[in-house]
Amino acid sequence: MKKEKRGTFSGGFGFVLAAAGSAVGLGNIWRFPYLAAKYGGGIFLLFYILLVVTFGFTLMVAENAIGRKTGKSALSAFGELSKKWGFIGIIATLVPMIIQPYYNVIGGWVIEYTMTYLTGGHTAAAGDNFFTDMLASPLRLLVFQFLFSGITTFVILRGVQKGVEKFSTILMPVLIVLAIFVSVYSISLPGAMTGVKYLFIPDFSKFSIQGVLAAMGQMFYSLSLAMGIMIAYGSYLPKNSNLEKNVGRIELFDTSIAIIAGLMIVPAVFAFSGGDESALGKGPSLMFVTLPKVFESMGLSTIVGSAFFLLVLFAALTSSISIMEAIVSSLCDKFGWGRKKTTIGVGIGSFLFGIPPILGYSLWDKVTIGGLTILDMMDFITNSVLMPIGAMMTCIFVAYVIGVNVIHDEVKLSSDFKRQKLFDIMIKYVAPILIAAILVSSVLEALGVIKF
Ligand code: PHE
Repeated sequence: MKKEKRGTFSGGFGFVLAAAGSAVGLGNIWRFPYLAAKYGGGIFLLFYILLVVTFGFTLMVAENAIGRKTGKSALSAFGELSKKWGFIGIIATLVPMIIQPYYNVIGGWVIEYTMTYLTGGHTAAAGDNFFTDMLASPLRLLVFQFLFSGITTFVILRGVQKGVEKFSTILMPVLIVLAIFVSVYSISLPGAMTGVKYLFIPDFSKFSIQGVLAAMGQMFYSLSLAMGIMIAYGSYLPKNSNLEKNVGRIELFDTSIAIIAGLMIVPAVFAFSGGDESALGKGPSLMFVTLPKVFESMGLSTIVGSAFFLLVLFAALTSSISIMEAIVSSLCDKFGWGRKKTTIGVGIGSFLFGIPPILGYSLWDKVTIGGLTILDMMDFITNSVLMPIGAMMTCIFVAYVIGVNVIHDEVKLSSDFKRQKLFDIMIKYVAPILIAAILVSSVLEALGVIKF
């Protein structure tokens, strides 16, 4: 079979924007603000930042270095470094394969909201039943899911530089401008300052172990770790690009957007609810039910609502692109398949597997486990089970199978490794223990043994 040339990013800048495009997603925009609000605001933010620069830094360096060293994506990279441990690559590839179909479904919801706002339907979007009516119409959802997965497939078909990199370099700056616009609007609302203070000033009496665990889980998801994405992107990073510095930039980008999202949402909801933090609710209802009501009550709702959902759409698209890239590049590397055919196959597959989570809200709404819908189940299996297992295995693999020197050498190809000591301590001892704690607590919580 003719071997296709592997793609690369044009350099550090393209890599950082593409990786930041992956990292900045729904996790930053709705998950971070409601977790921050739930676990005490400033104190949560403090721990979150500490975890990003220690634990997140370590895992991201490890994944990027594994990718760049082997020049392969997850499914082949682990096996290339040590035959017996190739199975970690299977776990790391299974995660995006399960995430992609349901991410497309949520992406479809976002398209529906964006179009509603752009066409002046703000009052309808803020209606009590808009969200539930949407979920109860499988055909409509199918069309929007098709659109979202179609755009993703189109970008991946164009390749690493002309597709993934170019798309992120255009969308990410627009996203930042929109986010700043919405957050300035939100902060300027009467009564919003209580929300701003709540978000930034740590109140140590609100410290809790659950909050730290939640911050850790959020950090994982938000930095797109443990799903093969950073390995794939590392494999496209030129050898002379400064790996350590670029990881720092991705983290800065991702955390800044999470904070700006906090500023878009927390002050506006505080102003709307008169300071009641429980109005931030949990899960999709915040973004799809509460926020449209907030926008409606504050005026300018067409402009602010359109800007908000457009930025959510861009964030979701660049993330979904990275999920598909991780799958496609893993399959091409492993089986030597052509990129075009693989992309079309994965596009069709993820569209079809997106049908069950859509039906889970209507025709198949009786199919639940412990109250979880099909979409929630897919989310739980990946985020709470497979990702922590994959991340723990990656730490053990680096620390005790191939040895930390392999990573040190790869990082040092392009610069000094300034945080090498921190990296070693984290990957050998701290990270595996902390990850085990996330795994145990989330499974126990799901089984109803403990309640957070
Ligand atoms: N990191 C993204 C976010 O914060 C989520 C994501 C999930 C990205 C899965 C890629 C794959 O929302």
